[in-house]
Amino acid sequence: MKKLTAIAAAITIFGAGLSASALAAGGHGGQVTDVKDWNTGEGEQSVAMTLTPDRENGIEVYEVCSACHLLEGWGMTNGTFPQLAGQHKNVLIKQLADIRALNRDNPTMYPFALPESIGDEQAIADVTDYIAKLPMNPENGKGKGDNLALGEQLYKDNCVQCHADNGEGNQEKFYPKIVGQHYAYMLRQFEWIRDGKRRNANPDMVKQIAGFSDADMAAVIDYVSRIPVPAKDVAPIGWQNPDYN
Ligand code: HEC
Ligand code: HEC
Repeated sequence: MKKLTAIAAAITIFGAGLSASALAAGGHGGQVTDVKDWNTGEGEQSVAMTLTPDRENGIEVYEVCSACHLLEGWGMTNGTFPQLAGQHKNVLIKQLADIRALNRDNPTMYPFALPESIGDEQAIADVTDYIAKLPMNPENGKGKGDNLALGEQLYKDNCVQCHADNGEGNQEKFYPKIVGQHYAYMLRQFEWIRDGKRRNANPDMVKQIAGFSDADMAAVIDYVSRIPVPAKDVAPIGWQNPDYN
């Protein structure tokens, strides 16, 4: 894994930082910007969606990503890095294109996601197709479990119409799969969406959750983190990605 060592060194030198403070800072300082164009589909996104993916190149490109998202695509239960495995391909394409176009702040990842680092729209098509097919983490990070009845009610009333009954989201509509995602990562994103910091957020979600208190937020995300991932999508405990050895 020479490449991974090089990436790890680059991450240290860059100081873009794996630190919580760098993440919490989250880029350009939290102002509410125009969110009505949350999904124009312009630029790299629409191009990448039409390309036929090359699995071998997807594996090659993903090696860079695995420095943070891990070889299995499972991220970290403490929420520093999200799970990517099993996410809808359209969602992965949109988020990656948004990050590259600076429509979603991600200073930690940005330098590693650029065309000069991984390649053009074909690389996006290849790596997202590869990631979407990886089996998911059997042990995602969960919340405290102390307010699940409230969480379930909030979920049914406010989330089902987009993220579906069991957090499966919607590939065609670019609604992320949130079942199986790490609690701490989701909580951070949810708060950023509520407070207008995640600039590519869907404005209808922003409206829907505007009245959520911090306790509501924790309860509903805790509930989501505990929805069981369908058996067909989940890896056995201890699974290691055989595409890298
Ligand atoms: C230096 C660490 C690092 C590297 C390398 C990295 N990422 Fe990330 N990535 C992150 C972090 C941190 C986040 C979450 C940022 C946040 O909390 O907003 C993230 C988020 C994402 C997301 C959004 C996930 C979601 O659920 O919305 C996608 C997609 C993604 N990364 C894909 C990739 C791909 C593909 C690569 C390789 C080309 C890659 N990342 C390389 C750190 C990294
Ligand atoms: C109107 C549709 C809609 C509603 C209602 C909605 N969401 Fe979302 N949600 C979205 C979309 C679309 C995104 C991705 C936005 C983007 O592209 O950046 C998202 C993103 C998220 C994310 C971040 C996922 C990731 O991988 O980064 C979380 C967590 C989330 N929603 C949870 C919820 C919860 C919990 C509720 C209910 C309290 C809810 N959402 C209500 C549409 C919705």
